[in-house]
Amino acid sequence: NNTPIFAQKKLLVRKDYKRYTVTSALPYANGPLHIGHIAGAYLPADIYVRYLRSKGKDVLYVCGSDEHGAAITIKAKKEGTTPKAIIDKYHQLNKETFERFGISFDMYHRTSTKIHHKTSQDFFTTLYEKGEFEEKVSEQYYDEEFNQFLADRYITGTCPKCSHDSAYGDQCEKCGSSLSPTDLINPISTLSGKSPILKSTKHWYLPLDKYQSWLEKWLIEGKKGQWKSNVYGQCSSWLKEGLQPRAMTRDLDWGVDVPLEDAEGKKLYVWLDAPIGYISATKQWAEDNGKNWEDYWKKQPNKEDDSCLIHFIGKDNIVFHCIIFPAILHAHGGYILPENVPANEFLNLEGEKLSTSRNWAVWLNEYLDDFPEKEDVLRYVLCATAPETKDNDFTWKDYQTRNNSELVAIFGNFVNRAVVLTHKFFDGKVPSVDSLEKIDKETIKSISQFPKQIASSIEKYRFREALGLVMELARLGNKYLADTEPWKLIKTDEKRTATILNIALQIAANLSIVSEPFLPRTSEKLKDLLKLGDFTWDDAGSNKLLEAGKEISTATLLFEKIEDEAVEKQIQKLKKPETVSDNVLPQ
Ligand code: MF3
Ligand code: ZN
Repeated sequence: NNTPIFAQKKLLVRKDYKRYTVTSALPYANGPLHIGHIAGAYLPADIYVRYLRSKGKDVLYVCGSDEHGAAITIKAKKEGTTPKAIIDKYHQLNKETFERFGISFDMYHRTSTKIHHKTSQDFFTTLYEKGEFEEKVSEQYYDEEFNQFLADRYITGTCPKCSHDSAYGDQCEKCGSSLSPTDLINPISTLSGKSPILKSTKHWYLPLDKYQSWLEKWLIEGKKGQWKSNVYGQCSSWLKEGLQPRAMTRDLDWGVDVPLEDAEGKKLYVWLDAPIGYISATKQWAEDNGKNWEDYWKKQPNKEDDSCLIHFIGKDNIVFHCIIFPAILHAHGGYILPENVPANEFLNLEGEKLSTSRNWAVWLNEYLDDFPEKEDVLRYVLCATAPETKDNDFTWKDYQTRNNSELVAIFGNFVNRAVVLTHKFFDGKVPSVDSLEKIDKETIKSISQFPKQIASSIEKYRFREALGLVMELARLGNKYLADTEPWKLIKTDEKRTATILNIALQIAANLSIVSEPFLPRTSEKLKDLLKLGDFTWDDAGSNKLLEAGKEISTATLLFEKIEDEAVEKQIQKLKKPETVSDNVLPQ
């Protein structure tokens, strides 16, 4: 079975994998999740894995809290509490929020666990013993008032590349450049707000320059035409600039201890330990479920048996997942490398950049409280407007319009008409098909084509396109009913009416299968409504999913109209940031 996964342009690559290891970026456990996170790394991955499961694939979907690094300690300091209190609070909150939103992780792990500390230390030790690190003493910025070295987010200053005045010590969020603290112009400690001094300290560096040519071959040559152009482009410009050695250790008091004798008080760099979190999550999942974690991460004796590794991330994580982590896996040896890293661009909100510090965000947990049982509406809107190729905008008006004139007026309306008419004319039993007319044959043919087209879009990570096709199928149903007018025909031709409603119900049944990755709650409701058995993706396309004579349930609405009042309230909430002070994060 050699189905090509990427039919983009001329290049036909890849076989059909048996096993998939899918990851979503581990969110920092330092605050709640907002729609930007969801649109970037979680919803696309969830759609993808739900689709693969429906195809009967062996899929493992892992994620978890990223509980180390300055993101956590700075937040704790700001709130006058301990890092542990911060991670416990937000790990719990985010885990629950993902569940409520229907993100179907097989494992939502934590990097503060024992198994993770050991896994990342073992990784470090292996690299150390293989002689992969360069040990270097250098002068680094130090805050005398707080007696602390200032790495990464502990230091800000002016970006040497774009002059942005609040670039971090590791990265400029404006231009995306990767930086080291000594690159910053006018460096300032985020602890004391003062200029730091220089002090010498020893660290272990991964010589990324050593992997430059390997990366050029693997990525630049190997992934051309396969990876999304936004991802591929960012990687190429990184490699063009030339890679530099990168320190894999930090002077911090929070994180995974460096497993060396002469490294007292030093921790692993958070971007070393965090991606290894995908592996430790897999180990925990395997232990809980009687599986072998290595099947999902290690190269197999026969290359065809390797698992397909896919990282879903936001664009600020590209370098770590496309360059640094692959280099680490390669240096370690024995591991598979990412087949693809379908990173998304950023989502804006009402025309402005999302900002946690200004509380310019839609917090997922608050959305779920304010709109109970409406997670599918947000999933729909975030997928329909996903920043797949460029930054995109979420607005509450658009949310309302898409709900009212797409989900309610097209999807919901179609299903409702088919079900109500079946009850009205046929006692709630699936009517049987008589002879087929031209319009029926054409409709049946269309039905058979949708699942393949939707699948092809999903496999190319074009989720907006895929969702558009799902809605096209619902539109087809509406048009079929509008063209055939069974509500008029019943007076003169009961047999013909029966045929039409049978086909309409088959469309609804198909919708329940192909909408599942996008709208899981709706799909389930629809399956209940039709009393549909357990069908998989490959059953979709058939016009025989529902047997004639079978009873269906009475109509319930799949979607409700959202009134102006409800979205007005949300817009007002955005304008009053002081009402939700708990959400204010360091940024
Ligand atoms: N916590 C990081 C962020 O929010 C993402 C970590 S992804 C991982 O940007 F691979 F490192 F886990
Ligand atoms: Zn910059």
